Amino acid sequence: MRLAVFDTHRFDREAMEAANARYGHTLVFFEPRLTAQTAQLAQGFTGVCSFVNDKVDAAALEALHAGGTRLVALRSAGYNHVDLVTAGRLGIKVVRVPEYSPYAVAEHAVALVLALNRRIHQAYARVRDWNFSLDGLVGFDLHGKTVGVVGTGRIGQAAARIFHGFGCRLLCFDVAPDATLERELGARYVTLETIYREADILTLHVPLTPGTHHLIDATALEKMKPGVMLINTGRGALIDSRALIGALKSGHIGAAGLDVYEEEEGVFFQDFSGKVLQDDVLARLLTFPNVLVTSHQAFLTREALGNIADTTLSSVQAFERGAPLVHEVKAEQVLRPPVR
Ligand code: NAI
Repeated sequence: MRLAVFDTHRFDREAMEAANARYGHTLVFFEPRLTAQTAQLAQGFTGVCSFVNDKVDAAALEALHAGGTRLVALRSAGYNHVDLVTAGRLGIKVVRVPEYSPYAVAEHAVALVLALNRRIHQAYARVRDWNFSLDGLVGFDLHGKTVGVVGTGRIGQAAARIFHGFGCRLLCFDVAPDATLERELGARYVTLETIYREADILTLHVPLTPGTHHLIDATALEKMKPGVMLINTGRGALIDSRALIGALKSGHIGAAGLDVYEEEEGVFFQDFSGKVLQDDVLARLLTFPNVLVTSHQAFLTREALGNIADTTLSSVQAFERGAPLVHEVKAEQVLRPPVR
């Protein structure tokens, strides 16, 4: 199939081309993000391939449909950027990559914890400046600390297992608790309130839905244990960024590791060096020494990129052959999430 691949970067182009040796699709790479304005680039393409910061809203889908597109293949697990109701109405199938490497994302969440705790980002800069002093770099033992894992799906579970290895006590929250975590790791499912009260580290692994939008708002932040470290590798809008800035300024939140940011579209994945950053909230977040922002890179491992490319291209092949689309995502699934 001819597939229009949007928001292409060198890293995923290489992975897609390598995987395509097994499928033989015709891949046409476009740098712009997929939006209503750029959808016309896909004129005549039955399939388009979209990335996390595209805006596949009703207008974009209408434009794609008019151009002949019938399949939107997401190179992501999250699908909060797609209007699934409109896609369903237009008969456009949407497929995603539900699992490509939970380890990649979980390991990045833990990397943020370790870097923030042991001030690696500051130590690195200091030593390069020949400043070998240690003042201000004191961290804490992870062993024995309480980690709150919010969302214990694939990524949350992988993170829980790593923290268990550090000797942490695990408190979990999920709408569909998984008893294996309790059995194997001694984790306890508790209310969010308990996590807020007791967690030294809180890591977010729920999807972004209307129900989880600004899950971490000013009220939630206030309830958290003073000095808590907050990690978000889920989706930016799980956290109210302005409220987080307030809680960082007051010192109530000890540190924040953010791989995602609610207004990241159009900024993350781009090189803005030498330009003026227009987003004052992001700019303020970047001024805190105890905040570490990465540019939505938690998924970025060789293994994950290979799996993303392979699953995407195999879904495209299934669509082309009229075979069942095992990774299809439909509006009904989002409105009524399956309970495990
Ligand atoms: P998953 O579907 O395996 O797990 C999500 C878990 O959240 C499920 O256990 C579900 O029951 C739970 N959940 C859903 N709504 C909830 C709610 N309102 N309250 C409590 N629990 C709720 O998904 P997976 O693979 O673990 O991914 C989680 C999220 O991580 C994705 O939705 C995506 O947004 C984000 N992600 C971020 C990446 C990055 O590079 N930063 C890469 C991949 C995923």
